[in-house]
Amino acid sequence: MENTRNIVLIGFMGAGKSTVAAALHDIHGYEVVEMDALIEEREGMSIPEIFAQKGEAYFRDAETKLLTELQTRDHTVISCGGGTPLRQQNVAEMKKIGVVILLTAEPETILSRVQDSHDRPLIEGHKDAGYIASLLAQRMPKYEAAADFVIPTDGLSAEEICSRILSAE
Ligand code: S3P
Repeated sequence: MENTRNIVLIGFMGAGKSTVAAALHDIHGYEVVEMDALIEEREGMSIPEIFAQKGEAYFRDAETKLLTELQTRDHTVISCGGGTPLRQQNVAEMKKIGVVILLTAEPETILSRVQDSHDRPLIEGHKDAGYIASLLAQRMPKYEAAADFVIPTDGLSAEEICSRILSAE
């Protein structure tokens, strides 16, 4: 897969998308597009502020708009928000951009990674493995349908995950 133009990382909150994108930059020279960060920058607001003041639908539309702008990228890794692949139109846009890689992790692993942050409105106040497991189960069919490859990340370092991505085919 070394020749593939771009890599699109999808997966649940805390699956490791941002960490792996940063490692693909540091180790393999990919440019990084962090969708959440770019939307925050454009809106001049944090994700919780966007959800609270403009609503989730507004945020979802901003994701779709941003994805349609990324078609001309090259040697870039796109780190999507956890909800980006839930919209069919977004999946179609991702497929045009590059290879779509689903990073997965067990609910307990996800919980340990998201526990101390407060920037995810959809799980704020629900930080327990049961809630995460049920939201994950609800989303998994769409994640799997969107993915060209699935990489379980539990127990792997970011470097190991990068190697698996780059040797996937
Ligand atoms: C969301 C995931 C978040 C962010 C927003 C909604 C989701 O991104 O886009 O809070 O619906 O799963 P991360 O997966 O980067 O936390």
